[in-house]
Amino acid sequence: MLTKDFTHSVVILIISTIVVASFSILVLIVPNLVRTDEIRATSLAKPLTALEVAGRDIYISEGCHVCHTQMVRGIEPEIKRDGRANKEGDDIYEFPNLWGSKRTGPDLTNLGRKYSAQWQRLHLIDPRQVVPTSLMPAYPWLFKQVLSGDDIENKMRVLKGLGVPYTENEIERSRLAVKGVTKGEALVHYLQSLGNDTASDQER
Ligand code: HEC
Repeated sequence: MLTKDFTHSVVILIISTIVVASFSILVLIVPNLVRTDEIRATSLAKPLTALEVAGRDIYISEGCHVCHTQMVRGIEPEIKRDGRANKEGDDIYEFPNLWGSKRTGPDLTNLGRKYSAQWQRLHLIDPRQVVPTSLMPAYPWLFKQVLSGDDIENKMRVLKGLGVPYTENEIERSRLAVKGVTKGEALVHYLQSLGNDTASDQER
């Protein structure tokens, strides 16, 4: 009877979809809106530096997030493979978040403590040089193209508007920190920062 109603009545289908969706919003979204202050107060996340912000933008523009997730789920096999699981407060300064949905390559949440900066450079210029069986594309041009830093102040201001606590001094000095640096070097700075702020000493 119930199955018949569901498949034969569009009205019942719409109403039941609304009921299920409202329940999910109530249980998953509303509690976190109420707890925003608490999540912020207990979060270990630190805002990215200007150079790391520039590197993160290259990560997005090159589509690294299409093959790599930044979301370790709290299940044992995943924690064993990728390290510390994400917590709700980890992403308070992430706009937009880069959790991703496809893992052609490994999860990069806890990458920052895994390799040296030199390994990251070699790997980006030619992944096969350090991982002979790698399928990852090479990005040699990133180490030839230089950042002008012209847009970084605006980016930092937008992030500040979204709630990242940058000081006026940090924003004013951001252009100097970025200007003249290669895209690759900024990206390596960002990669080496991943997971370093959010892990407590016991989790390192
Ligand atoms: C087409 C899919 C694809 C894209 C796009 C891609 N990667 Fe990868 N990546 C992989 C694969 C597959 C591996 C595993 C083999 C290896 O280590 O090279 C990997 C490995 C890595 C690793 C080593 C991770 C570890 O824990 O050993 C890093 C760091 C990395 N990628 C960064 C990047 C960055 C930064 C970008 C964007 C500039 C990028 N990847 C774009 C597929 C991709």
